[in-house]
Amino acid sequence: MDFSKKILQLKKKKNCVILAHFYQTADIQNIADFVGDSLQLSQIAAETSANIILFCGVNFMAETAKILSPDKKVLLPEPAAGCSLADSCSANDLKAFLKNYPSHTVISYVNTSVEVKALTDICCTSSNAVKIIESLPKNEKIVFLPDRNLGSYIKSITKRDDMVVWDGACHVHEEFSVEKIIELKKEYPDAKILAHPECKKTVLILADKIGSTAALLEFSKKDENDKFIVATESGILHQMQLASPNKLFIPAPPIDSTCGCNDCKYMKMVTLEKIYTTLKNENPEVIIDIELIEKAKKSILRMLEMSK
Ligand code: 13P
Ligand code: SF4
Repeated sequence: MDFSKKILQLKKKKNCVILAHFYQTADIQNIADFVGDSLQLSQIAAETSANIILFCGVNFMAETAKILSPDKKVLLPEPAAGCSLADSCSANDLKAFLKNYPSHTVISYVNTSVEVKALTDICCTSSNAVKIIESLPKNEKIVFLPDRNLGSYIKSITKRDDMVVWDGACHVHEEFSVEKIIELKKEYPDAKILAHPECKKTVLILADKIGSTAALLEFSKKDENDKFIVATESGILHQMQLASPNKLFIPAPPIDSTCGCNDCKYMKMVTLEKIYTTLKNENPEVIIDIELIEKAKKSILRMLEMSK
């Protein structure tokens, strides 16, 4: 069956908007109405006039869309598509942790469960984390979660040495090999290194550009260089290559070359076939208790307000 064709027909008939994260496979990115980073997709989810949002990404992203558009039907083709980073911080563990920091402002990366967002003062993504933290008074005490690498990067930029950072990490970004990136750079000495701030500090030190997936894509379009080593999930290479067909994009190698770690195993659970059956059956749907939505929403709306 030609799933792409069927999806495009059904989506029109049902007034459905398909949102896909940059880490989805190329065939999925090609049928989406919007492809973007987590901030861009949440902004679109908040503003869309479509009846149905079909989210090609992981659980927390579809939950964010539902929180922002609770009256719409939000479909997620693979509910088991989690996130190792979101899993590294449970709401119960966070509640216990925060007892030690009763007067701190809680800033959570959007890669968190809805329950964790309900305990959060302000959400952020990798594209606005620095801006949000810099806009707070210098003496405001902050707990940042769940990513230790993004947290340590923000600390170094904002000079907030006393910021408390949760000890979580993403299985894809932790796995890039510093030694192999250095070897690759010897092979391509004029290649620039692009890295997502979820990478370890030892990788970020080597980078010419650190940024969210959208920021790395923009940089690769505008920079006059024609070779890039890309230290983030492999899905982003599709948009980079589409935008700059004459440039060379080389995925940064993971420590274990047999593990396929450049791919987020959760993101890659979504397939065209699952998208088709999800849209046809209008199921699985993201369902969240309305009280929980109201609690979690405040932190996301604050983020969207502060990102303008
Ligand atoms: P972005 O904020 O760049 O979309 O990244 C989300 C993510 O899950 C990174 O691993
Ligand atoms: Fe989560 Fe990492 Fe996958 Fe991003 S790449 S969705 S942080 S597991």
